Amino acid sequence: MNNLKRKASRSPQGSKPPKQRQALDPEPISPSRTTCPTLSYPNTRSSPTSQPVPFQQPTGLLTFSYTPQRVLEFTDSALRYYVDPPPGADLRYGYDRWIKRTEERTRLDGLLRAVERVMSKADASLGPGSGGKWLKDISVVTWRGIMTKILTAPYEERDRCELNAMYVGDTLYIEEHLSDARLHEKGDLAPKQRQMTYYGYSFESWCTSSKPGVPERADGHPIGWGGDVDTNVQWCNVIKTKLGDNRLIIGGEVDCVRDKFNGRTDTFVELKTSMSIRNAGDEARFETKMLKFYMQSFLLGVPEIVVGFRTPTGRITTTQSFKTVQLPRLVRGKPGAWDPQICFSWGQQFLTTLKSTLSASPEPTEAPRGESSSSSSEPLARVWRIVLAPGEGAKVSLLDETGVKEVEAGEDRVGILPRWFYDQVVGKNVEAGAVASAPSEPPVVHSGAMTNE
Ligand code: A3P
Ligand code: MG
Repeated sequence: MNNLKRKASRSPQGSKPPKQRQALDPEPISPSRTTCPTLSYPNTRSSPTSQPVPFQQPTGLLTFSYTPQRVLEFTDSALRYYVDPPPGADLRYGYDRWIKRTEERTRLDGLLRAVERVMSKADASLGPGSGGKWLKDISVVTWRGIMTKILTAPYEERDRCELNAMYVGDTLYIEEHLSDARLHEKGDLAPKQRQMTYYGYSFESWCTSSKPGVPERADGHPIGWGGDVDTNVQWCNVIKTKLGDNRLIIGGEVDCVRDKFNGRTDTFVELKTSMSIRNAGDEARFETKMLKFYMQSFLLGVPEIVVGFRTPTGRITTTQSFKTVQLPRLVRGKPGAWDPQICFSWGQQFLTTLKSTLSASPEPTEAPRGESSSSSSEPLARVWRIVLAPGEGAKVSLLDETGVKEVEAGEDRVGILPRWFYDQVVGKNVEAGAVASAPSEPPVVHSGAMTNE
């Protein structure tokens, strides 16, 4: 950990793009990047030796919905209520009518709009500058799916994950990195895989209704069908929590609520499908999978997970409700066991190391300007690539100009951040020279507490 910090701070500084720098890692991810030594994962087979890292109960900040046209609105139009699915529900139903959202880069933009809204409300209720002070106290802004991947990385055996990160003000912004090739791959699933993916969404339709406790009855459809699947539509929650000493703002989709939504997370329900368990091998695989169910739900404060067990051809055989907080105890001592403390402790170490690595290389104090940050007269946004390599650890490297351009993908961005967010929300601090080394004086406010919406 110290190694990573020390070597990173030795890396070349300044406003010029880091061309032809010597890679410090023996296996550079690509040429001409400044690469830090790998931060190794903890051993998942031994108990954590350090003190448990506390994870604060998440509090809801606000909710928003994506409409069928994929327009973000600050309403609960996409909120759904939990209902029991009909016995033997057919997960293939409606497959041909599935409106599948086009695969695109999963940007932070929607979440940043929510952050900006929280800040404006703070300014309005607590006085100008309160929002900026609030954001300054936040270590990380990211989607729940990304935080899940980071925290469960020590247990991941198969999937490599690439992220892009920026450190602006005192906050880390982290998005998933999807290359054009990977995007294409995601949008072009093999028919069997596409069908299996649909099962999960179809289960959501069978388990949800527009009214609490009353299964949907739509003309021309079986009773209980919640409506044809449109994956553009999502109900999202933005929460605030704290992992160790890092305050996090996390956004994520919530499948449905039980009975009512009162602004808190305690009625949230996560829906999952899984193959029916036939033998000990299946059971162990299910236990392993439960780590992701657990983390995904825990991070947003979702207290209940309803699992629909299905046949290979997509018929629900049984459903079972799990209390999120009880999952760790359920798997303890079993073949597929995992320990969330290993994940939290790793997460704390990872975030703290990342912050010190990224802040050790201060950005030029001038903010990028003009139509696009890629013009040669502008300083280059400092974007870091994080690779979570299964069985190894996290590799962090600073992107060169080509890498930053690939991330910006011709859009009006400063690295991963949309320009409007950079200019209106965080850029002010940058211009004051506060990127990494000299934090700006926080505005005086009446209270340090953030109002909860
Ligand atoms: P299951 O999780 O029941 O398989 P989520 O549960 O995260 O809300 O996601 C709903 C469904 O989206 C999943 O249902 C699955 O069908 C699909 N899905 C989510 N993440 C996926 C991924 N990384 N790859 C393929 N399908 C995914
Ligand atoms: Mg789900």
